[in-house]
This record gives sequence, structure tokens and C-alpha cells, in this order.
Amino acid sequence: MPKQVYIETYGCQMNMADSEVVGGILSKEGYEITHDISRANILLVNTCAIRDNAEQRIYGRLGYFHAQKKKNPDLVVGILGCMAERLRMKLVEEERLVDLVVGPDEYRRLPLLVEEAFAGEKGIAVRLSRVENYEDIVPLRTDGITAWVSVMRGCDKFCTFCVVPFTRGRERSRSLDSVVQEVADLAYRGFKEVTLLGQNVNSYRDGENDFADLMRRVAEVDRTNRVRFTTSHPQDMSDKLIETIASNKNICKYIHLPIQSGSDRILKLMNRTYNVEHYLQLVDKIRNAIPGVSLTTDIISGFPTETEEDHQMTVKLMEEVRYDGAYTFKYSPRENTKAWYMDDDVSEEEKGERVSAITALQHQISLELNQRLIGTVEQILVEGESKKSAGDFTGRSDTNKTVIVPRNDERPGEYVNARIHSANSATLFGTREHTNEIRRVVVEEDVA
Ligand code: 5AD
Ligand code: SF4
Repeated sequence: MPKQVYIETYGCQMNMADSEVVGGILSKEGYEITHDISRANILLVNTCAIRDNAEQRIYGRLGYFHAQKKKNPDLVVGILGCMAERLRMKLVEEERLVDLVVGPDEYRRLPLLVEEAFAGEKGIAVRLSRVENYEDIVPLRTDGITAWVSVMRGCDKFCTFCVVPFTRGRERSRSLDSVVQEVADLAYRGFKEVTLLGQNVNSYRDGENDFADLMRRVAEVDRTNRVRFTTSHPQDMSDKLIETIASNKNICKYIHLPIQSGSDRILKLMNRTYNVEHYLQLVDKIRNAIPGVSLTTDIISGFPTETEEDHQMTVKLMEEVRYDGAYTFKYSPRENTKAWYMDDDVSEEEKGERVSAITALQHQISLELNQRLIGTVEQILVEGESKKSAGDFTGRSDTNKTVIVPRNDERPGEYVNARIHSANSATLFGTREHTNEIRRVVVEEDVA
């Protein structure tokens, strides 16, 4: 009976993709991946270190693994990913339940380390690499509709709040051919949507090819399949990429464009390398080139020295841009980063209040934008049964909005035209529409 591996994943989509790489590496060596923790011989936790609360959640979970190991001393427990990189020896020494600590660039060594762990030897592998991109590894994916494909790793931006350059190391890209090949294999297997991933995909580079070239080539693989990407740094969003999104129908009209703050002074302290004016010009350019595009963002509240006035500038920016969605975070100091050495002088309470204020504002804006879509037709890719009602399907629009439609005889993976009849801040609800007209075409008689 092959040894069973259970992998639990926290954090960003890069981590989800990495867990599939880990699955690929281990299954090639004869291990089997299980989704049933009670059957596992090996428990791996792929961790996130972006904010302290992410780490605390994982620490909490380690307690549970500890209990499992007490019941079954032969169980091998390993910590992978960003926390492994950040905490290293501390995890092996202080948290004695852990057998393995393996950073994001050392997954090829897992089969050997796991074997040694079964022989009672603790393992730690946390070297970061300038070249590792796992491009020859076939990630282990369950068949489905949507897949993530990591195209570059690491980050060289060094935003002063961010631990990623320390936990994931320097930027490096996969070859264009290896990405295109993987996407072609996915299309052959029946996947209908791929999301190209990287901490800063706009820095993708393979010899002469940049990210726009990669997107175009990936979009050409199968024009009936959708292509998405995340995440972008505003400074590197090129005209060429905007043009590529605009001119390829199957590249989704959705861009996640983290602003972080609406105050130039704070942006400077964050080392974000753009100011609000540049950012707004970029938003204008994107909206002019890609009509109907949906934009989302990330915002941090309570960065060192952030005043009420700075916070109000963020509010003003959000009112000006009117994002389709925003992820909002309380600033969390991370060791080694530049901001770690600044005084974390905004109280938890104040951070909480600012986050609540911008979350409420975003909620209102999302609701208004979604309600404006009532009466329009969206083409959605059906992903499966709605969680809330078995009689409905859930899917996503080109612009990445969740849309619920009554279930019919088509299957997940097919496109359906939905005429939107109601909306809340997170979801659109539609009836199916047998029409060739798609995407945000307002039907005159419905509006009147
Ligand atoms: N504190 C709070 N939020 C952070 N992010 C990154 N580092 C921190 C931190 N130290 C947020 C940023 C980034 C998103 C992925 O996480 O907004 O865009
Ligand atoms: Fe972190 Fe900035 Fe790199 Fe994003 S661009 S991963 S926020 S350092």
C-alpha cells in the first residue's frame, strides 16, 4: 500500500499551485495524495507568512497535528512554504512535533526528506534559489474547470511591509514554451480556464518575451478557453499588456491592481514606486482601452505613521476609482522588512476602525456597480452546483463576478448566457438567455 500524503494549504494562489507541484513530485515517487486526513501517513502544511494572523491560524492548527501525532507516532508532519522559510530552526526546535521544514524552493528534496523522516531523522531545507521554477514538474491536479499555472516565482520589489522577497526569494520566470505546453495539456484534459500566477507577473521575462507575449501565446492555445492572470504591480503594467488584454477576446477583462494606500506620503514609505496621480492615469488608460473592465485592489490600513488624513485620502481614492472589489488588511509588522524597523504606531483599534470604514465603503460601491448590471447579459462559465441551492449553477463572468443561474441540462465547463435580474455586493443572479449577445449589452426595453 503506497504511503498516503495529506496536504493542507494556506495563503495565496501561489501556494495552491505549489501544493500541486508538491503533489506532482511526491506522486512520481510512489506516494499517494489523500483528502482524508485520517488515512494519512504524512501530513504537510503549506503555510503563509504574509501577516501575523495567518501565522497564528496555522500555529493553532499545529496543535491539532500534535494530537494526531500523539495518537500515531509514526506520522510524519512537515511544514512547507513561507513560514518554513521564515522560522526555520525555530519550528524544528521549539515545536517538537514537526519532522520536516521545507521552504518554497526545496520541494524537489521532499521524497528524500520524507524517507529520512520515517527513519527518525528530522529534516530542514530552506535554501532559496535564483533559478528553481519547477517548470519540468507536472503539477498533480484533480480534473476540473479552472487551473492555476505558476509562471514566475519570487519578487524583487521589496515593498517595505512585505515578507515575500524574503520567503520566496528573487524573481525568476519559466520558459514561455513550458507554460504554453502546460496550458495545451490542460486544454486537452478539458480545463476551460487558466490563471497565470506570479507575485508580480508583469515582470515575467523569457529572453525576448515579456508577459504580454506570454499571455498572447497562452490565449492562442484554445480560443474557447479563458485566460486570467494575477497579480500585477501598477508600475510594471505595460501598454503592450493592456493592448493584449483588449485585443484577445478570451483574455478576461479583469485586473487585480493593488494600490495599498491613497496617500502619496505612505506610498513612498511603502516603496511602491508610483504615486496616486500615476495610478489614476493608469486606471484611465485601462478603462479606455478595455471597456467594461473590472478592477479590484488590495489596501493596507494602519501602515506606520498613517494619519486620519492619509486614511481619508485612501477613502477618496476608492470613491474616485470605484473598484469592483477590494481586499483590505490591517498592517502587520513582518520581521526583516524595512517597515519592521519603523514604529508600528497606529493602534490595533484604529487599524480596525479604518479597515471597517473602507470595507463598508467598498461593500456599497460593489453593490452599486453590481446593481447597474441588472438587465444586462453576462456570459458565464459554469463551474458547478451552487453551494446554497442544488437547483442552481454557479459560474463566473468574464469580469470575475460570481453569477447564479437556474440549473439546466448543460454541464460544468460550458458557457451560459445569463440575463441578470438581481444582485448583491458579492453575487449576481440571472436567468438563462438564449441569445448571441453577450457581456454588458444593455437591452433598451429592459432599461426603460
Ligand atoms: N501587513 C498587511 N498586509 C500585507 N500585505 C502584504 N504584506 C502585508 C503586511 N505586512 C497585503 C498587501 C498585498 C497582499 C497580498 O497582502 O496588500 O498586496
Ligand atoms: Fe510583496 Fe510588493 Fe512583491 Fe507584492 S510586489 S509580493 S507586496 S514585495
